[in-house]
Amino acid sequence: MTYIRETCGCCDCEKHCGALDIVFIIDSSESVGLTNFTLEKNFVINTINRLGSMAPDPTSPTVGVVQYSHNGTFETIRLDDANINSMSAFKAAVKNLQWIAGGTFTPSALKFAYDNLIRDSKRARAQVSVIVVTDGRFDPRDDDTQLRYLCDDPNVVVNAIGVGDMFDKSHDSETLLSIACNDKNRITEMKRYTDLVAENFIEKMETVLCPDPVIKCPDLPCKAEQYVAPCVGRPVDLVFLLDGSERLGMDNFQHIREFVQKVADRLVLAKNKNDQMWSRLALIEFGKENELRVAFNLTHNRDVVAAGITTLPYLDSSSAVGTAITYTIDHILGKGRSRKTRRGAEISFVFITDGITDSSSLDEAVSAMRREQIISTVIATGSDVDNDILHKLVMNDQEAIFKGEKLSDMLQPSLFDRFIQWVC
Ligand SMILES: *[C@@H]1O[C@H](CO)[C@@H](O)[C@H](O)[C@H]1NC(C)=O
Ligand SMILES: *[C@@H]1O[C@H](CO)[C@@H](O)[C@H](O)[C@H]1NC(C)=O
Ligand SMILES: *[C@@H]1O[C@H](CO)[C@@H](O)[C@H](O)[C@H]1NC(C)=O
Repeated sequence: MTYIRETCGCCDCEKHCGALDIVFIIDSSESVGLTNFTLEKNFVINTINRLGSMAPDPTSPTVGVVQYSHNGTFETIRLDDANINSMSAFKAAVKNLQWIAGGTFTPSALKFAYDNLIRDSKRARAQVSVIVVTDGRFDPRDDDTQLRYLCDDPNVVVNAIGVGDMFDKSHDSETLLSIACNDKNRITEMKRYTDLVAENFIEKMETVLCPDPVIKCPDLPCKAEQYVAPCVGRPVDLVFLLDGSERLGMDNFQHIREFVQKVADRLVLAKNKNDQMWSRLALIEFGKENELRVAFNLTHNRDVVAAGITTLPYLDSSSAVGTAITYTIDHILGKGRSRKTRRGAEISFVFITDGITDSSSLDEAVSAMRREQIISTVIATGSDVDNDILHKLVMNDQEAIFKGEKLSDMLQPSLFDRFIQWVC
């Protein structure tokens, strides 16, 4: 349902929440890690998607984001920024936030957010909802009295989310409670970052942020959302891992060829071998253990992509996903001096499989994916899928599984566009 809401949001009845301002304050410190930081950004985007179609009138919500690490590194995005003139531009800006990976100055970040985004906001607003996401203890050199910096403004409501096992210690729970101005109902402690993007949590946030929505249905024809070039101005290395088992069938194999070509056509690829920005692609088809076909290694070259797609044979055998992952990490991404990914690139694996595959050595392979901070997506079709395996492949992030009745559905604009937004 989420994608239907998103792509048809402009035609649907809309929820209106009134003049609400939302400010996310997210932890970008070293201890969070790149994958978890990406999950924090996805959490911001997912939450906004829910409140998303509240757009054009001036009394609708605005959103700001502060990412923080050590003092002096704080960065902000604001929806009223003149360069960010649509919800999709805002989302692109969130995706582009780079992990800072320094210390944790939570109290200073709260003060910064208030002084820069909230205090001087010119909007006649009823309320500002602040959502703070942190993984734990802040630097003892920071001023802990500022934890409650937002509590003196009666128009501000603070929600504090603590992630990880640090909050097993009561001291750290007290930190959360201080951030949330001593309101127990406004703190959430969770074990894993993946819980941030879980469906039920996003639903909870929706209720917290917009407790009394007014439903309005449009009487005007729809306008399409403004087009934003996907994966803009940052390095993304996208690796397709295609399950070439006999269960796929030749028709689906053709649809996948079309699909990968369509992705290549949509994305802006790197300009040349040395370009550190934009996307590159690789396509690997895997069959039974150690039976692999590399259609093309990571490349920016459209001719290589097109030729690789056309000449790739359909294996039509059984499949073993674990060994395929290990091979891809060792040889397509490469290790040590023969590393083939670019510095700072986001590495995404896109599995095209129904999960019915030999799963021996899958656990080790998934651990290796975590170590390499690979972002994982699954495209699965048909009614007969192995959900346990699919869940393992996406490291338990349900939102990362794309399901359609048939593979050709992935070529439809609704699912295709959602896929591009997701990997970007
Ligand atoms: C953080 O930076 C601000 C502005 O540069 C400064 O006023 C403040 O004293 C710093 N706080 C700490 C704890 O270093
Ligand atoms: C991400 O967070 C989980 C807890 O959700 C933690 O176990 C893991 O070590 C973190 N990853 C990194 C790279 O720090
Ligand atoms: C991929 O790269 C390896 C060397 O790293 C090479 O041996 C192989 O031929 C390449 N495959 C394709 C399809 O270009």
